Amino acid sequence: MSVSTWTSSLVLILFWCISGLAGMAQAQVSAQPQATNATTDPSEVRALNSVFEKWKIRANPSQWNTTGDPCSGAAIDSSDSTKIDDTGYNPFIICDCSYESGSICHITKLKVYDLEVTGVIPDELWSLTFLTSLNLALNYLTGPLPAAIANLTRLQYFTVGINDLSGELPKELGQLTELRSLAFGGNNFSGSLPSELGNLSKLQQLYIDSSGVSGEIPSTFAKLQNLQIFWARYVELSGRIPDFIGNNWSKLTSLRLLGNSFEGPYHLHFPI
Ligand SMILES: *[C@@H]1O[C@H](CO)[C@@H](O)[C@H](O)[C@H]1NC(C)=O
Ligand SMILES: *[C@@H]1O[C@H](CO)[C@@H](O)[C@H](O)[C@H]1NC(C)=O
Ligand SMILES: *[C@@H]1O[C@H](CO)[C@@H](O)[C@H](O)[C@H]1NC(C)=O
Ligand SMILES: *[C@@H]1O[C@H](CO)[C@@H](O)[C@H](O)[C@H]1NC(C)=O
Ligand SMILES: *[C@@H]1O[C@H](CO)[C@@H](O)[C@H](O)[C@H]1NC(C)=O
Ligand SMILES: *[C@@H]1O[C@H](CO)[C@@H](O)[C@H](O)[C@H]1NC(C)=O
Repeated sequence: MSVSTWTSSLVLILFWCISGLAGMAQAQVSAQPQATNATTDPSEVRALNSVFEKWKIRANPSQWNTTGDPCSGAAIDSSDSTKIDDTGYNPFIICDCSYESGSICHITKLKVYDLEVTGVIPDELWSLTFLTSLNLALNYLTGPLPAAIANLTRLQYFTVGINDLSGELPKELGQLTELRSLAFGGNNFSGSLPSELGNLSKLQQLYIDSSGVSGEIPSTFAKLQNLQIFWARYVELSGRIPDFIGNNWSKLTSLRLLGNSFEGPYHLHFPI
């Protein structure tokens, strides 16, 4: 990892990102009826297999992809919906096979966590439009997050924390209005925070420590009324610390702003 501002706290940050993700994911899962004969949407099979091929990873066929179809085995085991967070299943997917009267499965969760995957994020990934959860944290992914991310309109949990991604953040991230948790800390992005992120009205957790972004916190962030956690350490943020953090983010429980270039004086009645 070539994160120049790496500190040991990043490890802790990641732990928090992932455990936050895990807790929220569990709370959301509901039992889904599963048909034994259901098969994965063929376009998703092609996309997943192609992404995995480029990343040189495979399913463990004793866990999932047991039939050669990705949505099989533990991937469709609705009796244990916490498996996506289980470190013993990695890489891993979870499917929802309730489509077309229980004959078609869509991939709803994808985890490729800490598998030393290198290279860019293949475009095919952005055609997995049923994803609600995408965890690509702790790899060596390079290149940008493209505008095609706007395709994943159902995403609630998204982390690319601790990779080598670069370029400007796509403003299209602001179209992912189902997002509850967004983590892109520990990367080499450039430019400022897109004002469009202020449209993420359901966002509860935003982790951007050491992400490479700089500039002012956009005024549109005043609209992030559901934000509970905002961690933005070592990101060259500048300007005044906005008053709306104290005034409008009424659900905030954890704020981390150390290692920035803010102008004083601070009027925040909140520990940072
Ligand atoms: C980060 O990206 C910048 C370009 O924006 C580049 O000059 C620099 O070498 C990159 N740093 C690392 C550690 O990859
Ligand atoms: C699965 O397919 C077989 C053969 O096509 C059929 O006999 C069986 O009833 C199907 N099971 C379900 C749950 O649809
Ligand atoms: C699933 O198994 C099929 C058949 O062996 C294989 O071609 C495919 O690459 C596997 N997919 C994944 C994601 O491992
Ligand atoms: C976006 O999703 C559609 C399917 O809904 C797909 O046809 C298209 O190729 C996707 N775009 C990218 C860049 O993957
Ligand atoms: C999202 O935010 C941008 C910039 O803040 C704004 O111009 C745009 O109208 C917003 N889009 C929606 C759908 O609210
Ligand atoms: C922020 O709070 C102030 C004072 O309560 C209120 O007037 C303003 O409308 C709020 N802004 C947003 C974007 O919700």
